[in-house]
Formats: sequence, C-alpha cells, structure tokens
Amino acid sequence: MTTDRLMALDLLVSVLTAAAWVGAGVAAAARRPRAAAALFAVALVASLARVWSVLALAGAGWWFVQEKITVALPLLVAAGAAATALAGPRLLRAVRRADAASRDAVRAPAVAVPLLGAGYAAAAGIVQTFLIGYPADPGTALLLLAVAAGAVLGTWRAMSRQVPGLRTATAATAVAAVLGVTLAFVPGAETTAEGSAPGGTAAMAATGSASHDHSASGGSASVMGGATRPVTDLRGPAAPPPGGAVRRFELTARTATVTLSSGRKVSAWTFNGQVPGPPLTAVQGDLVEVRLRNGDIASGVTLHWHGYDVPSGEDGVPGLTQEAVPPGGEFVYRFVAAQVGTYWYHTHEVSDLGVRMGLYGTLVVTPKGTAASGLDLTLPVHTLGGATVTGDRDQPLVRQAAPGTPVRLRLINTDNTPHRFTLAGTPYRLVAVDGTDLNGPGTLGRVGLRLAAGGRYDLAFTMPSDPVLLRIDDRTDSVRLTPASTGDGSAGATAAADPGAVPAAGGQTADWPELDLTRYGAPAPTPYTSRSRFDRDFTLVLDRGFALTNGRPMYAHTVNGAAFPDIPTEVVREGDLVRLTVVNRGRDTHPWHLHGHRVLVLSRDGRSVTGSPLWLDTFDVQPGQVWEVAFRAANPGLWMNHCHNLSHADLGMMLHLAYEGVTTPFHGAHSG
Ligand code: C2O
Ligand code: CU
Repeated sequence: MTTDRLMALDLLVSVLTAAAWVGAGVAAAARRPRAAAALFAVALVASLARVWSVLALAGAGWWFVQEKITVALPLLVAAGAAATALAGPRLLRAVRRADAASRDAVRAPAVAVPLLGAGYAAAAGIVQTFLIGYPADPGTALLLLAVAAGAVLGTWRAMSRQVPGLRTATAATAVAAVLGVTLAFVPGAETTAEGSAPGGTAAMAATGSASHDHSASGGSASVMGGATRPVTDLRGPAAPPPGGAVRRFELTARTATVTLSSGRKVSAWTFNGQVPGPPLTAVQGDLVEVRLRNGDIASGVTLHWHGYDVPSGEDGVPGLTQEAVPPGGEFVYRFVAAQVGTYWYHTHEVSDLGVRMGLYGTLVVTPKGTAASGLDLTLPVHTLGGATVTGDRDQPLVRQAAPGTPVRLRLINTDNTPHRFTLAGTPYRLVAVDGTDLNGPGTLGRVGLRLAAGGRYDLAFTMPSDPVLLRIDDRTDSVRLTPASTGDGSAGATAAADPGAVPAAGGQTADWPELDLTRYGAPAPTPYTSRSRFDRDFTLVLDRGFALTNGRPMYAHTVNGAAFPDIPTEVVREGDLVRLTVVNRGRDTHPWHLHGHRVLVLSRDGRSVTGSPLWLDTFDVQPGQVWEVAFRAANPGLWMNHCHNLSHADLGMMLHLAYEGVTTPFHGAHSG
C-alpha cells in the first residue's frame, strides 16, 4: 500500500476508534448495557487496529508516525486499558443479568466516564495530527493531555455531584495546560532540524553567531572573523562574455484590463500591459539586461528568474536580495544567459497574488550557432480570471505545419497546482525537464505528463500528416496543429481561420497512464549519487499545523513544525555537497523549489532514479512521498527554498538557504 493510502487508512481507523469509545460511554450513560458492551468490543478491536495501522505507517519512515508513537498511541493504550479495567467487568455483568439494577449500574460514572475518557484520548491523537502536526513536542503533548483530562473531569462533574479530589485534579490540569502552552509557544522550545542553524531572522543567519552555532552542531570550522560579502555585491557583469550580445528588455508592471482570445476581458497585473509579459529570449552567452519599472502595482514588484541560476543579487527576492520596487521605482537586472532551455520569470513580491494576477512571462535561451528551424512554441499555462489560458489564449491555439516539420512545444506551468498534459496524434519525446535535456528520452504515446507548479517540459516531434492535439487536464484543448496542405516544411506555421474546423485528435485521454519520470530515458553518469559523502544533510518535513507566520498565529503550512520566518535557515559553505530530503506527511501536494540551484534527484520513496538523470528546480512532493535530492553549493548567496504553491508559501512554507559569509542589508523577514 502507498504511504498516502496508509495515512488515509490510519485516519479512518483513528476516527472509528474515537467514535466507538465515545459511543460506548454514551450508551452506558443512557442505561443501555447491550449497546455499550457491543461498542466497547468494537472500540477494543479498533484500538488494536490503530496500533497496527500506526506500525504499518512507521514502515514509510519515522516522520510519518512520530507524533502517533510518542503521543497518540501511549495515550490511547493507557486510557483504553484503564477503561477496560474499570468499565469492562461491570458492563459484562450488566449484560449477563439484564435487570433494572444492572442497567442503573452501567449508568454510574465509574463505567461511563472511563469509556468516554478513552474516547477523548483517542480524539486527542487526531487533534494532535491535524492541528499541530509534525513534530510532536512536549509542550503541545502536555497541552493535549490537559485538554483530555479537563474533558474527563467536566464529564464526571456533569454526571455526579460528588467528584473526589475535583479541586486538586482541576488545579493539576490547569497547571499542565499552562506549562504546555509555555513550552509550546515560547520561542526556543521548538525542535530544530538536524544540521540547521537556529535561524531566527533568517537573512542574517549566514553571518556571525549563526555560523558559529552551525559549527557547534555540524562540526565544521567557524568562519568567525572571516570575510563577509553583502548579497548586493553578488551581481551580474556589465558586459557580455566575448562573442555574446546584450539583450535589452524593459518591463513595466502595471494594472490593465487584458482581452483574451475569446474577447473576454480580465483585469490583471501586467508587464507592459500584457499577460503573460513579453517573452524574453536570448542566445547562450548573451548578457540579458532587464529594466524593471513599477507603474502602479501598489504592493511592489520584483523579477525572479525561475530555474535560472543567476547571481544572488539578481534573484529578485524582496527583503533578501533587494527591496521590492515601489510604484515609480525601477531596478535593472543583468545576468549571463549561461543555461539553455525553457524558463520563466515572475514577481516575488506578494507573489501568490502577483503571479496569479498575471505578473509572469517566459524566458527561453537557445544554444549558440543553431539556426532556428521548424515550429517552436512557448506555452505558459495559467489560470487567469477562472479560465485556463495558454499564453494569452483561452481557446485552442491553431497552427498549420507542413508534415515533416520539426516541432518543439515548451510547456510551462505558471499555476499553483500541477497540470496534466496529453499529446495526441503523434509519437513524441519529452526532451527536456526544467530546462535541462534528458538523456536518451524514448518515444512516448498515450501517456499523461504531470507537470509540477513552476516546472517545464519540452516536447519534440516531427509533424505528421494528421492533426496533433495538446490537451490540459483532459479537458482544455490547448494547441491544435494541422498538417498544411502545401508547405515547404520549414518555419511554415500560419494561424488557421476557424478553430472549430479542426478535428479533435486522440479522443479520450483521461485514462492514459501517467509517465513516471524517474524511469524515463537512459541512465548516465552523475557527479554525485546517494552513496556520495555529503557535507550537509537537511531534512524538511512538510505538514500543516498552527504556527506563527510573520508573527500571526495561523493554520500554517509548516516545515519541521515551524512556519516562515521561524524555520531555521539552512547554512552551507561554498563547495559543499548538500543533500535535501523532503517528506510530505500532509494531504496537499508541495512543488518544492530551490532558488539558484538545480538539484539532482537521488531517490523518491527510497527508489533511486533508473532512467535519465533528473535535474530539477521544482519537484512535486505528493502526499506521503519522500524525495531525496542533492546539489553542489556553487552559487554563493542568500536563496529562497519554498513551496511553489505560492499560497502555501504565503502561509509559511518557505525558508532560506544561506552561504556562510553572505549578508544582506535588507530586513530579511519577508520574501514575497
Ligand atoms: Cu518561482 Cu521563489 O519562485
Ligand atoms: Cu505546498
């Protein structure tokens, strides 16, 4: 069974357990010994099943059961045993005798209260998993215990006027609650991830005391007294390398009403009045220079080059690498187009809202010396004003191409959630993922391609003599290519008049199986593997729970039990080989994204990659999954490491990766 299924099963069993214990208690209080005894038997069986389901889940990793084994199970076992010992014999006697006196006997608090108490204990475990999540800490455990004890006392008091030792018990419960709250919510009491520096205001963690802290926990030498560099010094060059050209672009962010291809109008946040923003293109080795101006975006704007490993000072993270550009302000970005492939840019200030409203565009870098041939379409997919748009079209893009034309489709998911793409009508290859070419990609057909939020896939094929259809999420037709009746087979692609005239290719796609990227393509040597010696090892356990997010208590998306900016910064040193293990024990998908570095996938759910090496900048960590990735720390700076479901990032799911010795003059407590 998958971890995801086991998590669901465990939840079901835990709800059943709590319900059965409570039901038994209620039946007893209602003087129904038979019903109470039957529910008591169900509760016993369910409790045993719960122990089994937790142990089964433990097989997926300690992260998935930590709070269950340290808190929920001990509580359930203790309360269940007490209830069995106290209520069991009386219940059985009452069932055997079946007279009025024994019915009254099961109504006694001595029977009903322990049964209900076991129910409260079982429920406390569920509450712990949902409200607090990973990891369970002594503070919240104590608090939960106090709440369950308080509920028992309250029930008891409601059932009888005489509760022995009520005052003392109430006082003890109150003390436990206060102690629990103190332990849980006073800073410094929370668990920190192994190998991390206790971050605090994350941006400054790369300097001074934090790196000292790191050397204490990680055993590396301290850089105290070493040279420090402000991130604002880590900028791109003013001139291109020899042979490169300068590509100048101007992007002005402003609100505007954009008109989709159907004529529908959407009020949006735009670059140069359009959504997506102007496509940026360059040839490898060019210097890209982008002048960003803010017309009227009141919350400010920046440009982040998603997947592009620019110098840190060009990365566009407000509060960390620059201040957000206010209305009337500007900022000039410069970087060498070293990586070839499909990328995108977007604002990083209030990025959830900003990107959703339209502040994004594409960045495509082509190799030097290869003349463009064939049909090359860059297709950013976005949900704009409720419609799924490809580029600026909310209707299929229809193109003609002569049979034999080489075609490349660059799919970019600029949304917060994954999209599933299908290509019908031709065999094709998935030639690049997140801008990096795959090794030996085989021919595909009748498969679904799940693309993570923020991710990119390049598909390549030769135009056949039949129509080709690209579809999104098995319902929205995105691109239709029709064979040109006449054509020279080269750049020939003209817009057809009537999209309705093109026959749909492929029919149903919903039942096409999903391609497993970790098994696609051919293996090739990689600079490091699972067996390498890592200088740093970070584990990020993703969950939901109550935590402070920017000082406000929220039902946050958490990393190791904390939310931004309280998640400890990962501190690395230039040259380190770093392993990142990302565990999703929640019920949401988290497309994990590290700025400034591509990561090599080592394994997913303990299985190593058997296909082409996978270099990604965004990897989709689905519920129950464990991803192990690695990268070389070779791009000094201060970097965001976050979930690219930007609404999750907004609710706390982001942290910083900092190189020792790099400082920021900005306040660092925010990151868009
Ligand atoms: Cu595309 Cu910090 O993100
Ligand atoms: Cu997420």
